[in-house]
Amino acid sequence: MDRITLRRPDDWHLHLRDGEMLKAVLPETARHFARAIIMPNLVPPVVTGAQAASYRDRILAALPEGMSFEPLMTLYLTEDTDPADVAAAHASGLVKAVKLYPAGATTNSHSGVRDFDKVRPVFETMAEIGLPLCTHGEVTAHEVDIFDREAVFIETVLDPIRRATPGLKVVMEHITTSDAVDYVAANETNLGATITTHHLMINRNHILVGGIKPHYYCLPVAKRASHQLALRKAATSGDARYFLGTDSAPHTDPNKEQACGCAGCFTATNTMALLAHVFEEENALDRLEGFTSLHGPAFYGLPVNEGTLTLAKGAARSLAGKLATGEGPVTQFDPGHPIEWDVVG
Ligand code: NCD
Ligand code: ZN
Repeated sequence: MDRITLRRPDDWHLHLRDGEMLKAVLPETARHFARAIIMPNLVPPVVTGAQAASYRDRILAALPEGMSFEPLMTLYLTEDTDPADVAAAHASGLVKAVKLYPAGATTNSHSGVRDFDKVRPVFETMAEIGLPLCTHGEVTAHEVDIFDREAVFIETVLDPIRRATPGLKVVMEHITTSDAVDYVAANETNLGATITTHHLMINRNHILVGGIKPHYYCLPVAKRASHQLALRKAATSGDARYFLGTDSAPHTDPNKEQACGCAGCFTATNTMALLAHVFEEENALDRLEGFTSLHGPAFYGLPVNEGTLTLAKGAARSLAGKLATGEGPVTQFDPGHPIEWDVVG
């Protein structure tokens, strides 16, 4: 197969930022994706329905003429989140998910949750109205090794939350371990998981061998190769509980390339070409559409997109490049080797 047409894909986990950065990165997503779940970790975070409505307006105002894109808004869960505000934002059609960041887990997460019992009433409301919870699945305790933080989260936070609120729909976001894949396998209902492009393409060797590669550093950090293989198997399995969430997270080069560099890989531009490469390698090109365009809408109870996207195989080329933004250059994720696939229509 050297050409494939898919229903237009969606991105179920995306950082668009605000201001000049938003203006620069939004077209990179809108060029290929019809919709995306928009992460609320701005400074200050998007906590209330009113803040989500105004962020949505800023996104739509930043969209270049002639492009179409639907931002699916989320609320950043804090210990002060009002269940009634969440319910109203969902009822109006504005908000499609609530995002749980354990406090301190990642970029701009200091307003996140410390005491999970405090947000139980919000979870109860979400279960009643069918609003999904998107989880950044890492514990933050200093004594827990950074490579174990996802597995410990599943056992000590995620599973207790799901047991206490049985009807709650949960998305395990940007999973990075075979532990997460095993948990999905063992839990049939109300559970989905997103996988990023970069976690399918790199493992921790890519970050650390031969010199440190700041542009491969993100959170959750890539794990050992056996975990990467488990993710590749899950993503290409055809199992509808797995769908694409790129976690494309732009930071300028000066913010990445320094003594304490920011976490996040900017994958929006190259994601579809890279996924065609990965799915071909796994002999699963026929399952790419499910992962990028069908499973996500099914989980969120939304219609699939009407439009299409066509990828074709051509001459191998490097995907290394930088996006110019009003805040500075942003390095686009590339796997460090040539790719033959490209979006052609
Ligand atoms: C994200 C960011 O930069 O906002 N960074 C990342 O490494 N993925 C935050 C997040 O999703 O963890
Ligand atoms: Zn993210």
